[in-house]
Amino acid sequence: MPTLAELAHEHTKLDGAAIGHLGALVSEWGMLADFSFADMLLYLPVENSGWLIAAQVRAATGQTLYHQDYVDTWASESEQVLLNRCLAEGTISQGEILVQAIGGPANMATIPVRHKGKIIAVLSREWVVDSARRAGQLESTYAEIFLKLAEMVSQGLFPFEGRIADAGVAPRVGDGAIVLDAQTRVRYASPNAVSALHRVGVSTNAIGQTLAELGVAESAARNAYERTEPVIEEIEQTSEVTLLTRCIPLLNSKGNTVEVVGGVLLLRDVSELRRRDRLLLTKDATIREIHHRVKNNLQTISSLLRLQARRLDSAEAKEAVGESVRRIRTIALVHETLSREPGEDISFIEIVRPLMRLVEEGLQSADRPVRFVVKGDGGRLPATIATPLSVVILELLQNAVDHGFPEGSTGGSVVVALSHDEDALSVKVVNDGIGLSPTFDFAHATGLGLSIVRTLVTTELAGSIAMRAGVQAEGDEVGIRGMVDGQGTVVELRVPVTV
Ligand SMILES: Nc1ncnc2c1ncn2[C@@H]1O[C@H](COP(=O)(O)OP(=O)(O)O)[C@@H](O)[C@H]1O
Ligand SMILES: [Mg+2]
Repeated sequence: MPTLAELAHEHTKLDGAAIGHLGALVSEWGMLADFSFADMLLYLPVENSGWLIAAQVRAATGQTLYHQDYVDTWASESEQVLLNRCLAEGTISQGEILVQAIGGPANMATIPVRHKGKIIAVLSREWVVDSARRAGQLESTYAEIFLKLAEMVSQGLFPFEGRIADAGVAPRVGDGAIVLDAQTRVRYASPNAVSALHRVGVSTNAIGQTLAELGVAESAARNAYERTEPVIEEIEQTSEVTLLTRCIPLLNSKGNTVEVVGGVLLLRDVSELRRRDRLLLTKDATIREIHHRVKNNLQTISSLLRLQARRLDSAEAKEAVGESVRRIRTIALVHETLSREPGEDISFIEIVRPLMRLVEEGLQSADRPVRFVVKGDGGRLPATIATPLSVVILELLQNAVDHGFPEGSTGGSVVVALSHDEDALSVKVVNDGIGLSPTFDFAHATGLGLSIVRTLVTTELAGSIAMRAGVQAEGDEVGIRGMVDGQGTVVELRVPVTV
C-alpha cells in the first residue's frame, strides 16, 4: 500500500513542508478519531480527477463504519459534493453521503486542513447516528473537544509543528482524559482518569479545581499553556505510582496572536511498566557482573597454568598445558563478550575474530605465514551454544595450523566461513595446507582435540560434523585462490539453532 507521502507526491503539487504537515496530522489524528468516536479519512484534491483518499483511521473508542481500507481509492460522487463545498467555502460543514459499503446514508463532517493559509487537504469524520447510544456527559464533552481540535486543524494550528508524540508510549484518550479550562481547572475527567487520580491519592471530586490545587501534572499543563504546544511528562506521583501525562493546549487564533482557551490532559498509568523495566534492568546488570567475574576467575586460572608451564622441562608437558591455557582463554572470551552485552546472547562473529588472534599469537614463526580470514556472519547465539561452539572452533583452528602448516611448510590460508538459515548455523573451517594423511579416519581419531570437538558437537550442540579433503570449488567459495582438488582440509559443522 502506498504511503501518504507517496500518494501526495504522485498526485498533487504539494511541497515537502505541506506533505510534512499532513504526515504530522496523520500521526496525531488517532486522538481526533477517539474524541469523535468515528472513522476519519484524509482526502487530497487532485487536479482534473477529483479527490483521492490518502489516509484512514478508526477510533479506539467507538465502532468503525468502514471495514475496508479506502486508502488509494477515489471519493464517491456524494462525497465529492461535500468536499468541493468545503474547499470553496473554507469552513467546517456537515452533510449526508451515500455509503455503498453500508448500503445507506451516513453523516460526513468536512474539515479544511490549512497550512500556511492554504487549504491543502480535507479531513472528514464519517459516522451513522446510533439512536441506541445515549449521549452521556462523556460523549458530549468529547464531541466539544473534537470540534475545538477540528477548528484548530482548519486554522492551521493543529498538528503542532515538530511536536509529534511517540505513538508507542504516548497516552491515548482511552487511557484517561481530563478536560481543562484556560486556568487549568478541571472541567471533566473521564472514568479512567478518575481511577488514575484515585491511585495517586486524589479522592475528592476534582471538578472545578486547578491541577495545582490537586497537585497533579501541574507543570506539564503550565508548560503546555506557556509554550502553546503539547508537553509530555512522566511523573512519579508516589513511590508506587508513575503517570505518563500529555497535555495538549487548545488554541484559538485571534488576528496575529494565539490564545489558549483550554487543554486536554491525557494520562496513562505506567507504574507496572516501569516496575518491570526496573526489575529487568537490575537483573540484566547482575547477570553481566557475574559474567565479568567468571571471566576474571578464568583468566586467573590460565595465568596460574602459564606460570606452571614455564617451570616444566618436558616439551610435551609444556605443549599440553599450553593447550589447556588456550581452551580456558576461549571460554573466558565468551564470558567477556557476554559481560559487555545486554541479554544472554551475543553476536558470534565478535568471538570468532579474537579466537583467530589467539591461535595466531601461538604461531610465532615468520617462515610459514598463515593468513586468517572470517567470512559471513553467524548471527546472534545464546551463551549455551556460543560457549561450546567457541571451544570447538578453537580446536579446529589449532589443528588447521598445527597439521595443515607444520614446520617446514610454506604457509597458506585458514578461513572460517559462517552462514545460517532459519534453523541451523553452518561453520566451515577450511585450510589449504598439506591435508589429511591417507590413513586418517575421523570416526576413529583418538586425539584429545578431535575428541573434544566430537563430544561437544554431537552431545552438547546436537549437531553434525564432517571432515574431508578440500576441493577447488570449495576453496573458491570461501576465497582461497588456486586450491587443488585433494589439497587442504575442510571441516564442516551444522548446529541447530532456533532464533
Ligand atoms: N586440519 C587438519 N589437517 C590435517 N590433519 C588434521 C587436521 N585436523 C586434524 N588432523 C589430524 O587429526 C589428528 C587428531 O587431531 P587432534 O585430535 O586435534 O589431536 P592433535 O591435534 O593433538 O594431534 C591429528 O593428529 C591430525 O593427523
Ligand atoms: Mg589438535
